[in-house]
Amino acid sequence: MKGNNIDESLISKARNSDIVNNGLLSVPQFVYCLAWNLHVGDFDKVVAGAIGPGLVDILLTLNPYEIYGIDINSPNKERLDEALAKWDVIDSDPDCLPHEDLIIKNHMSPESYSNILNETLRRDFSHRRECGYWRIDNIHRWSIERCIAFELKKIGVNPNTLRTSDNDYVTIEFDWAFPDEEMKRRKVYFVPSKIHDITDNKMFTDISCYYEKSSMDCTTPFDSRRLLAGLSDIINPNGIILIGRTENPDEDAEVEAMNSKVLEKSFKRIDFDYSYTIYMERTFRKPRYGWELYGFKKN
Ligand SMILES: C[S@@+](CC[C@H](N)C(=O)[O-])C[C@H]1O[C@@H](n2cnc3c(N)ncnc32)[C@H](O)[C@@H]1O
Repeated sequence: MKGNNIDESLISKARNSDIVNNGLLSVPQFVYCLAWNLHVGDFDKVVAGAIGPGLVDILLTLNPYEIYGIDINSPNKERLDEALAKWDVIDSDPDCLPHEDLIIKNHMSPESYSNILNETLRRDFSHRRECGYWRIDNIHRWSIERCIAFELKKIGVNPNTLRTSDNDYVTIEFDWAFPDEEMKRRKVYFVPSKIHDITDNKMFTDISCYYEKSSMDCTTPFDSRRLLAGLSDIINPNGIILIGRTENPDEDAEVEAMNSKVLEKSFKRIDFDYSYTIYMERTFRKPRYGWELYGFKKN
């Protein structure tokens, strides 16, 4: 069931990881991220477009100390602290009422209503594992803060190491160990912005890695051309851009060809082993939008 060149040691790492055993990622997803890391190496500082609550794939793919997460929907510190305070029940207590269900609440017994909420929570939070990304309606239903807390718990963070702050941006710090490595301090800055505005932000002038996947409409040809043209100027030599597939498979080839054209002067396409894509497709069977990456390296 595997592609030809799958590194078996990555599969055993996946099977021994909290991330898989806690149900956040499947074995193939974990292997896919680590295979990219083996190929491109570590990056201390990563700018992640349309991050939502998605941390695990960035940590496994790039092993950064710092992540600058750009999103139009950023967490609020008070709500984040409240969510983190409910650490023990963050993945089990449906204390946040899905608003579409409020309508049916008055027509049901409390027990039936509670069953619906529990089932909605289970289904929504398992979508991240089943499709490889956070769905926008699930983020909105449970709140970005709660989804971030869920993600931190499932990657195995010790809550005693967590610190939040809100200076220029809401920030979370925590200790986390990349597979088979020592614990390291990680810091995530949540920057409320449209991804297309980042090239105007003076903070982002020294980028060694830009990462963006499952970003809804952000990679349509027009948006993508504008963003990549700007990014190509602010990425360091030897820096990389990793991009996920669009939601529309018919559009993918067009977007990819166009991205290559925009970047061709100063970047080279990264030649990633297709065995891992085959492995994912044979075992995972979900649209590539949730997980597949392609990339470019600056000359
Ligand atoms: C489907 S979610 C995926 C989140 C995350 N990338 C993942 O893989 O789980 C898409 C995210 O893109 C964000 N988004 C959509 N359009 C955006 C834009 N123009 N600029 C910044 N963020 C955007 C949404 O707020 C949402 O958090």
